[in-house]
Amino acid sequence: MNEFLKIKPVIHEAFGDNIELFPSVNELFELELAHLEYKCLPKDQLLKRTAYIKSIDNQFSKHYLLYSRQPETLHENRSASTQAYFEEGQFSTGYATHGLFPYRGKFHPQLIKGLINILGIENGETILDPMAGSGTTNIEAALMGINSCAIDVSPFCQLMIKTKYEALTIDLNLLKKLD
Ligand SMILES: C[S@@+](CC[C@H](N)C(=O)[O-])C[C@H]1O[C@@H](n2cnc3c(N)ncnc32)[C@H](O)[C@@H]1O
Repeated sequence: MNEFLKIKPVIHEAFGDNIELFPSVNELFELELAHLEYKCLPKDQLLKRTAYIKSIDNQFSKHYLLYSRQPETLHENRSASTQAYFEEGQFSTGYATHGLFPYRGKFHPQLIKGLINILGIENGETILDPMAGSGTTNIEAALMGINSCAIDVSPFCQLMIKTKYEALTIDLNLLKKLD
């Protein structure tokens, strides 16, 4: 029996039959985070904020709608293994600007989004990540309208954070001029 079929009854028991999780949610820790997020978020904000739910009553979540189309150019000239890493992690590791550099020590962006939801951090509040690495927390915060500060001792990480963060709001017309 494949892994999904084994956990399907658990998902049904925990979420009912009108909620569909992302197919990549198949580890126990992800199911626990998904369930905590489901319990913590106000029902009227679930579709807008959830990191783990694909749809409720056949209505897609914002996470699904935003990240279901992968920008082809992001993965051009990448090794096959790097491309596979981001394609498999379309809704967990490879979306937005997280894929600009495959920093292997980074958190799953989806996990950070789930934790922000579970902690109840609101639009306009501020998060500090004192060992920010590739800036996963800062990028997720920005995507959710939350302010953030990043600290990292490594100059390379500082460059990576700045690049990934600023690329979220880059003017695409400027990039086109580089062609
Ligand atoms: C595992 S990485 C963090 C990854 C990050 N959570 C992400 O998602 O990209 C740990 C980071 O801590 C930084 N670090 C280690 N000691 C530090 C210190 N004393 N002050 C600031 N940053 C430090 C390292 O440079 C490294 O980038």
